[in-house]
Amino acid sequence: MSDTFLKDSVTVSSLNHESDSLQIEALYKKAHEDRLEFWAEQAEAIDWFVPWENILSWNIPHAKWFENGKLNASYNCLDRHLGTPTALKKALIWEGERGEERCMSYQELYEEVSRFSDVLKKLGVKKGDRIAIYLPMIPEAVVAMLSSCRIGAIHTVIFGGFSAEALQNRIEDAGAKILITADGTYRKGKHICLKQTADQAIENTNSIEKVVVIKRTHESVHWNSSKDLWYHELMKEAKFASAEMMDAEDDLFILYTSGTTGKPKGIVHTTGGYMVSVTTTTRLVFDIQEDDIYWCTADVGWITGHSYVVYGPLSNGMSVFLYEGAADYPQKDRFWKMIEKYKITVLYTAPTAIRMFMKWGETWPHGADLSSLRILGSVGEPINPEAWMWYFENIGSNRCPVVDTWWQTETGSIMIAPIKGHGPLKPGSATRALPGIDAVIVDEQGQRASRGYLTISSPWPSMLRGIYKDPVRYQNTYWKDGRYFTGDGAMCDEDGYFWISGRIDDVINVSGHRLGTMEIESALVDYNLVAEAAVIGVFHPIKGQAITAFVSLKETATGSDELEDLLKKHVAMRIGSFAKPEKILFICDLPKTRSGKIMRRLLRDIAEGRVIGDQTTLADPTVVQEIKGLYQED
Ligand code: WT7
Repeated sequence: MSDTFLKDSVTVSSLNHESDSLQIEALYKKAHEDRLEFWAEQAEAIDWFVPWENILSWNIPHAKWFENGKLNASYNCLDRHLGTPTALKKALIWEGERGEERCMSYQELYEEVSRFSDVLKKLGVKKGDRIAIYLPMIPEAVVAMLSSCRIGAIHTVIFGGFSAEALQNRIEDAGAKILITADGTYRKGKHICLKQTADQAIENTNSIEKVVVIKRTHESVHWNSSKDLWYHELMKEAKFASAEMMDAEDDLFILYTSGTTGKPKGIVHTTGGYMVSVTTTTRLVFDIQEDDIYWCTADVGWITGHSYVVYGPLSNGMSVFLYEGAADYPQKDRFWKMIEKYKITVLYTAPTAIRMFMKWGETWPHGADLSSLRILGSVGEPINPEAWMWYFENIGSNRCPVVDTWWQTETGSIMIAPIKGHGPLKPGSATRALPGIDAVIVDEQGQRASRGYLTISSPWPSMLRGIYKDPVRYQNTYWKDGRYFTGDGAMCDEDGYFWISGRIDDVINVSGHRLGTMEIESALVDYNLVAEAAVIGVFHPIKGQAITAFVSLKETATGSDELEDLLKKHVAMRIGSFAKPEKILFICDLPKTRSGKIMRRLLRDIAEGRVIGDQTTLADPTVVQEIKGLYQED
């Protein structure tokens, strides 16, 4: 990040009405002075069956927000809109990749969810049971999530791009009883048979009792009559099920994300705090208007999909657009044509997508009428100032503010982002922490600094409550110093704006997908010819980072293009195609310290063409020459 960007700021009038600014500054100030009171006020914006008795009880690292309050997330997204004009408003507007369209009003979505909740109950699902959801971006994905929490079950959504093995691991860790999937989906015109992957995943698991299958593509699937049930058949008999009364601290969902070890973490979110935070941040960051047609392009398999496709927007009664397929199918203007057609007002997408659109060229967006757009959001990875400006100029016609939103699976909701009335925007900066969020940068010694580790110093309502079944890992990963460590590096400028540089741990971000280097390494070493593997993220102009793997083979094997290919396929099988290394380099030995730790930093320096840092701890200095040699051959 260059300091020259700090001088360039963009003033967008819609973010900067003077009256808004005064109001917003007052809001920041108030939240700063009494954080708990601020959140208590925000909590009034959702419906409680029984009011809470205490805003927060905090016993580091265990938080209880809105203690003894009772509510239901599904009720907040649906029932509370009934009998208001929102009931007739579109809740979901869906377009399939082949151009199919479906719409559901809030009333209709409520009915669908109530009935599917009844189905789940009849299948024996009880409060606290886990339900695995492995679906494409279709309205039923939203229905499945809302039905699960309606009856007090805990959902774990697994992104449709995960392999059978990754799905199996998550199902097993969560001990899920029901799996909800579909016959398939379409991606770039190709049929992808999700049911087949789901079948493989549960072949050797005991926990899944029933598989509910949604007919999406009507392609034929293998049927296991002892477990499989068609969604549409089950729904024929269904009655309406009411929303269960849940405690504020009852689990709402588990979402698996990558960490610094090989095993993904099941991040646990609870009901009350999560609903308060996502409802508040959706309203503040996207400056919600009554007639918005809102499109967050994330898949429901990621946290962005949970918080800003489902819970945040629906709790606020917004019309949410969902798209099932690829951005370049049938042509590279698919997004822009849909924005024109549905008059989308808010677009929330990832820097990777923006950089891809940049590469495809302006002609595509310029060929569509994008005048309905009002706000542009960015999430998932640092947005470089060039991409920010391109988005601002070409998609937003210099009119729509670009809100860069920093947050994580663990934070549950947006933490750093501009809101209406905020001062000038600076391309590349997520600006300031939201009201009620205590973001602090600290140095190695844990002292406040202007550059260093990004931490959150006070609890916030949608903070993770733990790692499923692993309290020790929860404490050790995040709370070593009594502050929440985000794992990101950041800098704060003289205006208090944050500039996030990215992960400082062994987590990489490829196209906005979070992956643990150890996770990929474990997949590689589990191949019988591989002795050792080291994985790093290397700068990539579109994906942000690309995966490079360094592999040493067992004595009997030699590296070849065929083996590289086989290893890539192996990683795809273990995790999913999106985790395939872009490049695999075969080396005799990995660079290690004398104590045997792999020096990934050194590999990154060589791969990105930097001067190699401190090598004094390196056990065998000759490996550096070997690796450099590989790069020269390349
Ligand atoms: C990591 C979290 C937040 C939902 C999607 C990703 C990176 C996310 C930004 C941003 C710079 C960002 C961080 C973070 N990240 N948003 N606006 N600017 N970096 O959630 O998979 O949990 O990944 O994504 O490195 O730690 P996730």
